[in-house]
Amino acid sequence: MIKQNSATICRYDTARFPFKNIIDNHFIKHLKVASEDLHKLEDSTLFPAGIVTPGTDNNTPLHDILYTVFDGESFLPTYRKFVEFLQGPIGEELIFQKKPTFRIHLPGNLSVGNYHRDRDYGHPPEEINIWLPVTQTKNTATIWLESEYGQSDFHPVEMDNGEFLIFDSALKHGNEINKEGYTRVSMDFRVIPKSLYKGSSGRVTANRGHQLSLGHYYDQF
Ligand SMILES: [Fe+2]
Repeated sequence: MIKQNSATICRYDTARFPFKNIIDNHFIKHLKVASEDLHKLEDSTLFPAGIVTPGTDNNTPLHDILYTVFDGESFLPTYRKFVEFLQGPIGEELIFQKKPTFRIHLPGNLSVGNYHRDRDYGHPPEEINIWLPVTQTKNTATIWLESEYGQSDFHPVEMDNGEFLIFDSALKHGNEINKEGYTRVSMDFRVIPKSLYKGSSGRVTANRGHQLSLGHYYDQF
């Protein structure tokens, strides 16, 4: 399941891990629309002004609403069960991002500021990236990945609900301006096989300033 220098699309059981249902229901409760239709909202104060940039791409009013899903009873227990499930195929206990990061990719905008490797922002190279969409993803409404280290031959990753992507964190990734006519919502998080975890580097995350160490950004079972 974990291959160096590559990315793999895997399937999961949406009845056991109903991320799409939880997130759609959360948006419907607060905004009366499902994830795909967030751009149809009439309240434009919810949207970023212009194109998002690094450091601001996770801090819009829409994100603030989405992140309150962590206050509910279902999301975080489901997330932790999912990480537990991942330990099977990875074959080892994991250090994992305590709470995932959400991306909201509105038509006419980006969801992440630029092409990058997470290590460019202080993340340890031992991390493995997990990327899980709750909408369909295609063409310009998805993550774009290079095929091999340093190639910069970015291509869109097409996926459906019930699939997740696991990729080597040394691969550059990013996104394009969404021209698909629907909003893409996804979550991503990072895991480190316990045997590879080296402890705190003293660095903090670019978006929310979390210390990249156990008990802060990371958790374990
Ligand atoms: Fe990234």
